[in-house]
Amino acid sequence: MENMDGLDVTACERCGDLAESRSRIVNGTGPADADVVFVGEAPGAQEDSEGVPFVGRSGDVLDSALGEHGLPRKRVRITNCVRCRPPDNRDPSTEELANCRPYLEAELDHIDPEVVVTLGKVPSEHLLGRDVAVTSEAGTVETVELGGARRDVLVCVHPAATLYDRSQEATFDATIEKAATIAGVEGGQATFDDY
Ligand code: URA
Repeated sequence: MENMDGLDVTACERCGDLAESRSRIVNGTGPADADVVFVGEAPGAQEDSEGVPFVGRSGDVLDSALGEHGLPRKRVRITNCVRCRPPDNRDPSTEELANCRPYLEAELDHIDPEVVVTLGKVPSEHLLGRDVAVTSEAGTVETVELGGARRDVLVCVHPAATLYDRSQEATFDATIEKAATIAGVEGGQATFDDY
């Protein structure tokens, strides 16, 4: 794939404005054989500065739910629909999503996970190709064509939603638990090897 070295996009100028304003391209992190791939929207300020997805406040929420359900960050892949930060935390445009999609599809083809978990409305609608009411659809799995394969997509609320609306916590938590079950984690307990 053009511009990719393994799972990493090493250079890309497809979105001229983002290429100019970004500090760096934020590639996915986690093992190339992960059972679960989490897909967010796009890097925020902290991700743009550190070059790692979900390291800000949303990342703390995600990490703690993952840990609680025996699925620590080092066992999963975490990536985004768009790998460069849209300025002022605006949503990525349709064109930016389309420009970055081949990289995400190549990443999913390579990893071939059991399940793809979409974190929030933008990735859910981008991957399912339809309007999604994330709060009511969270926890549901739909099988769709993505890149070269049919993939199970598990809809999840964005971790940041739990910070603004505490009532979303249980929904978020139950969805992460479901992802852990699909990944074959027994009883939500991490093994010694996970630490
Ligand atoms: N929100 C996202 O959607 N992605 C990140 O990487 C961080 C926050």
